[in-house]
Amino acid sequence: MKFSKFGQKFIQPTGISQLMDDLGDALKSDKPVNMLGGGNPARIEAVNELFLETYQALGSDGSFNNSEETNSTATSSMANYSNPQGDAAFIDALVGFFNRHYDWDLTAENIALTNGSQNAFFYLFNLFGGAFSDNELDAGGQSVDKSILLPLAPEYIGYSDVHVEGQHFMAVLPHIDEVTHDGEEGFFKYRVDFEALENLTELKEKRIGAICCSRPTNPTGNVLTDEEMAHLAEIAKRYDVPLIIDNAYGMPFPNIIYSDVTLSWDDNTILCFSLSKIGLPGVRTGIIVAAPEVIEAVSAMNAVVNLSPTRFGASIATPLMKNDAIKDLSDNDIKPFYQQQAKTAVALLKKELGNYPLSIHKPEGAIFLWLWFKGLPITTLELYEILKDKGTLIVPSEYFFPGIDVSDYKHAHECIRMSIAADEDTLEKGIAVIGEVVRGLYDKAK
Ligand SMILES: Cc1ncc(COP(=O)(O)O)c(C=O)c1O
Repeated sequence: MKFSKFGQKFIQPTGISQLMDDLGDALKSDKPVNMLGGGNPARIEAVNELFLETYQALGSDGSFNNSEETNSTATSSMANYSNPQGDAAFIDALVGFFNRHYDWDLTAENIALTNGSQNAFFYLFNLFGGAFSDNELDAGGQSVDKSILLPLAPEYIGYSDVHVEGQHFMAVLPHIDEVTHDGEEGFFKYRVDFEALENLTELKEKRIGAICCSRPTNPTGNVLTDEEMAHLAEIAKRYDVPLIIDNAYGMPFPNIIYSDVTLSWDDNTILCFSLSKIGLPGVRTGIIVAAPEVIEAVSAMNAVVNLSPTRFGASIATPLMKNDAIKDLSDNDIKPFYQQQAKTAVALLKKELGNYPLSIHKPEGAIFLWLWFKGLPITTLELYEILKDKGTLIVPSEYFFPGIDVSDYKHAHECIRMSIAADEDTLEKGIAVIGEVVRGLYDKAK
């Protein structure tokens, strides 16, 4: 069969699709696997209990009933399509929730739902990146192709291939600061290189369509500071482009964030939330908070691509948003769980590789640790293969630099992303394998 250019673009093997296949195959294999590679959230007892309770209650509250009487109520959600903007009862609950906790003064016109936030990024990056029509000219009066500017690489692997045509990313490499963590040496933190950012020709020539960052960042667990965010917001306004903040791990839910920061919104900001990392990745629910113009565009795209977004996650989350249970769960169960996991993993890594040139990105949030093996004699893509053969899965760093040619950037071949969502036994076994292999590589090179 012959596929269109659009089809070709999506079926061509990408590094990440091969890697995801490897991860999937490993999980199906009968050999035991130390799974430190994926992005699945952990199983947390309190989380599972609350969702199960809520899910069971759905069965008896009319959610599956599409009779005349219930058609007009929000409770008949599962038996009816919502409008393309998404489940109205959930959107109302979200408006109430955000206005209770922040002074954003939102209305229902500020919120749209998507089938997971990955779906939201597909929409947003195609809305703001790619070819623009002839009435949108660059500084030299030419019609333009615009890129999504990632102010701090490494960034989320899932952004890379979402454009319907080509790839439209520009990214800026980070400043790397050595820092201490809990009074210990051996950590670093990425910071935005604002000088490089402000000097980008693409920005000056108006060839940037939006600025985007994940906060906390997947893969590194970095949390951009409030000062960095304010500076990015100012640049976005100056160049009249939106600032997209990917809050998949951020506050107020799942709130996997340990540094002292705040969350801001205004109508030049597009905030993306997800129910995935609170423990519901299977319900595929993403939430966009933005100016009405963006919400209308997203709703129109929903109508074409999905008719209407899924209502299942919305039905589960509506009561939990109304009574703040989602915030309590995030603050009291989810955040402390990952904070403890990060501590455990750091201690295990220090035990295995304390005397070797390992530096760990300061754990500030998300469900990963980002490890930097300085001067490693092989690339971490090669390390990934060795570890895979030994039944331990991680993700090598080179995939996390969308928009950058990393062939000459050594740092991009010296890091790995390691999930901390696994149970303690898996963490121990997986880190022991990483320790043994990496020690061997450094020792051999001496
Ligand atoms: C930073 C980040 N953004 C977005 C997503 C997409 O999540 P979902 O589509 O499940 O909401 C993920 C998933 O791992 C992520 O890590």
